[in-house]
Amino acid sequence: MPAMTWRLFSTVVVSWALIGPALHAQTRNPYEDNPDAILAGMGGYRVRCADCHGTDGRGVRGPDITTVWSTGRSDEGLFNTIRRGVPNTEMPAFAAPRASDRDIWQMLAYLKTLAAPAPTDPPRGNAENGAKLFRTLCAACHKANGTGGRLGPDLSRIGTGRSRDVLLARIRRGSEDFRAGFEPVTVTTADGATVQGVKKNEDLFSVQIMDNRERIQGYEKDKAKAVENGKKSAMPVFGPDRLSDSDLDDLLKYLQTLRGFDPTVKQQ
Ligand code: HEC
Ligand code: HEC
Repeated sequence: MPAMTWRLFSTVVVSWALIGPALHAQTRNPYEDNPDAILAGMGGYRVRCADCHGTDGRGVRGPDITTVWSTGRSDEGLFNTIRRGVPNTEMPAFAAPRASDRDIWQMLAYLKTLAAPAPTDPPRGNAENGAKLFRTLCAACHKANGTGGRLGPDLSRIGTGRSRDVLLARIRRGSEDFRAGFEPVTVTTADGATVQGVKKNEDLFSVQIMDNRERIQGYEKDKAKAVENGKKSAMPVFGPDRLSDSDLDDLLKYLQTLRGFDPTVKQQ
């Protein structure tokens, strides 16, 4: 074996002998506190995760993941969640070739630098009253635990998927970042009638919408007069005139109890 190849070979063997068992034991992150790995992890995190979890890790279309350690999650458990994803939710699996084991450990090493303590004062609110408010204000459009409307997304697991701050902003101020499959759309038919609803599917030639009465309708684009994407969600904004601050606390408390449609799917 030429000297160079031998050197390379022995380096690989030696480093595997050192890192292999650490990876295998998998209780701790082998890259924790390693500055190069943290930097690489930051790059990987920003490309793969920040859209949903935010550049600061505090959550946008996914939960706050800065408090996962202080609420008792282990490195190994987090590694597995990222590797497998959370089935039936928006959290994708990051298996090879999308991300190697090393990529995941490096991203976790970076995330650990953002780690924050668990909130000390538990959020205010009365979940029972929140459930009542949900039934009167929200259930016409949203399912929770099997009952409710279908015009808006099923919220049965919204408590694990969104931070309290994001939910609060969504209810009080609305959003222009519509959930896929629920974008507002208006179709004007050939005879001039307008149909409003949310967009379920679209291709070059046709569009399928669910109208405000939950009927699925398909239109061929060249036969319709106009198909317009709306700028305002089908969901109303709930200002303080419709929902007091204390009722909002109760509603948020209730939404945070909505943590699953299938408990067997829950990761450790
Ligand atoms: C398309 C959006 C999306 C992307 C991209 C995404 N996540 Fe998630 N993530 C979620 C959602 C939603 C959940 C909550 C799933 C549930 O309901 O349990 C979640 C859950 C998690 C959890 C579990 C939190 C807990 O308390 O158990 C971790 C850790 C996590 N994500 C890390 C990551 C990392 C790291 C990446 C990038 C490699 C990533 N996520 C990419 C949406 C996303
Ligand atoms: C008239 C129907 C309607 C009512 C009433 C309604 N919503 Fe919505 N909601 C929607 C639609 C449609 C969407 C998806 C489009 C969007 O993102 O704006 C949505 C989106 C949401 C989202 C974002 C989901 C996500 O994946 O991030 C939350 C949270 C939410 N609604 C909570 C509520 C709560 C809480 C109430 C009651 C106070 C409520 N909604 C009342 C129709 C409604």
